[in-house]
Amino acid sequence: MIMGRHIIREMNISDLPGVLGLEAVSFPTPWTEPMFRAQLGYGDISVNLVLLDGGEIAGYATALTVRAEIHLLSIAVLPGRRRRGYGRALLDEVIERGVSRGGSRVFLEVREGNDGAMAFYSGAGFRVIGKREGYYVDTSDDAFVMELDLERENNGRVEG
Ligand SMILES: CC(C)(COP(=O)(O)OP(=O)(O)OC[C@H]1O[C@@H](n2cnc3c(N)ncnc32)[C@H](O)[C@@H]1OP(=O)(O)O)[C@@H](O)C(=O)NCCC(=O)NCCS
Repeated sequence: MIMGRHIIREMNISDLPGVLGLEAVSFPTPWTEPMFRAQLGYGDISVNLVLLDGGEIAGYATALTVRAEIHLLSIAVLPGRRRRGYGRALLDEVIERGVSRGGSRVFLEVREGNDGAMAFYSGAGFRVIGKREGYYVDTSDDAFVMELDLERENNGRVEG
């Protein structure tokens, strides 16, 4: 269930201070401003969204779509706004936009031990398909690779 009044729109450069603040309280090694700027500069393959709640940036999601593959790079919601359906709303929207660019399979990496995110993705239909050892260079944590195959989910149809 989605609680609260919110809007989801494309991220732009002027959103970066809010996005960086959200990033800092969400990840042990946050993305930097140049990383977000690069992501915003990739053009049509790049999908970057923010979720605004009461005018404040409460969440963001970023992905790249290359042919059939949508790669979810990052998603986060402000700690005080979690479990209101905002993450799922962002995930659904980023996937929908990736599908409209030709995507049909969604991939992501999630840090081993990030049980909340694993539960979040599993609830959205993702399944673990592999593991990358030492993927996170900051702590040498492993990453689970998760996939959502939209064709299989929709019995061969992908609706964008
Ligand atoms: C993962 C994250 C984006 C989820 O955002 P959210 O807005 O809280 O997610 P939602 O409210 O849409 O959750 C949808 C469902 O996912 C599951 N879920 C979400 N967070 C969960 C948690 N911490 N523990 C268990 N289940 C969880 C629940 O089934 C939830 O439905 P419910 O609240 O009705 O039980 C958020 O926890 C976050 O920003 N985490 C820190 C950053 C991060 O780890 N990002 C992922 C990197 S791979």
